[in-house]
Amino acid sequence: MIDWEPLVAAAWEVCERAHAPYSRFAVGAALLMEDGSIVTGCNVENRSYGLSLCAERNAVTAAVGRGLKRPQAVVVVTSSSPPSAPCGMCRETLRELVEDVPILLVNPEGERLERTLAKLLPDSFVFPPPA
Ligand code: THU
Repeated sequence: MIDWEPLVAAAWEVCERAHAPYSRFAVGAALLMEDGSIVTGCNVENRSYGLSLCAERNAVTAAVGRGLKRPQAVVVVTSSSPPSAPCGMCRETLRELVEDVPILLVNPEGERLERTLAKLLPDSFVFPPPA
């Protein structure tokens, strides 16, 4: 059983620090890692829009930099209704680390959707191709 509440709280905390002056859409992500620690990330936009970084990928890169590569659970918080799911690029980035992981999507109204990476990203890119 995953204790979601510390992850949700951590995701809201980092969401407050999002740098999103262009979209004004803040995203917070929290990963429960294999050692029990929580690693977070927020979106960081850029005036050259294409350089903007998503919250989920920022969390993944921070975790890898700490030597942690196996997320056990993911929380993504946004202000949208229904709560937003990770974009395709972030799904592929998570898939690089894990075949499947539960992903909880949350908004301030208390809406919660539980998904899995396997459900969000079927038939993902395979490399190298099977022999
Ligand atoms: N964004 C994320 O942080 N994660 C996603 O999975 C999709 C989108 C951010 C990027 C941009 O700063 C803002 O949301 C609007 O697209």
